[in-house]
Amino acid sequence: MPKLIGTKKINIAVFISGKGSNFKNLIKHSFKKNSKFRISLVISNNSKAKGLNYAKKHNISKKIINYENIKKAEKNILKELKKSKIELICLAGFMRILSNNFIKKFKKKILNIHPSLLPKYKGLDTHQKVVDNKEKYSGCTVHYVSSKLDSGKIIMQKKIKVFRNDTSDKIAKRILKQEHLLYPKALKKVLISL
Ligand code: GRF
Repeated sequence: MPKLIGTKKINIAVFISGKGSNFKNLIKHSFKKNSKFRISLVISNNSKAKGLNYAKKHNISKKIINYENIKKAEKNILKELKKSKIELICLAGFMRILSNNFIKKFKKKILNIHPSLLPKYKGLDTHQKVVDNKEKYSGCTVHYVSSKLDSGKIIMQKKIKVFRNDTSDKIAKRILKQEHLLYPKALKKVLISL
């Protein structure tokens, strides 16, 4: 029997670096009736990240982290997570790699969304690689974060078809739409298992 039914909401932090459409979408889902989570904190390494505007709009605490020194940056992040009693992290377009030390110290679950059918096309420029390699399918993956880039255990994936005349931009747009459906679903699956 899932333990979360009828109990308090899980406190989540979202980490972003850019436009934050996944962050915006997770906020929307957090406000839904029966939602099992609340977004209490957004962390960014980039003070100019457009997605930070959604934090302001919805009164979510935001912390900009100076990443000149990784050790200090991660120490600051851990401090903020503790302060806000964060119980799970969702990375959503966060362009920094979390160290093994950070993952060990946080101890709780960390999720990430990646715009490819992992284990294929880890890292950047995924859509261009898909076009170059004439792949018939691509998609997106929500996975647990491990110390190796885009390599943790897969939680859920969504596959889409790639057409012959597709460009990386067209694929990126279609996959982003699917990301917005997949991330809340995968998060729900994780929260039910907690
Ligand atoms: C998404 O494609 C996500 O899969 C990748 O970075 C992008 C972030 O987009 N990790 P947004 O900032 O959520 O709009």
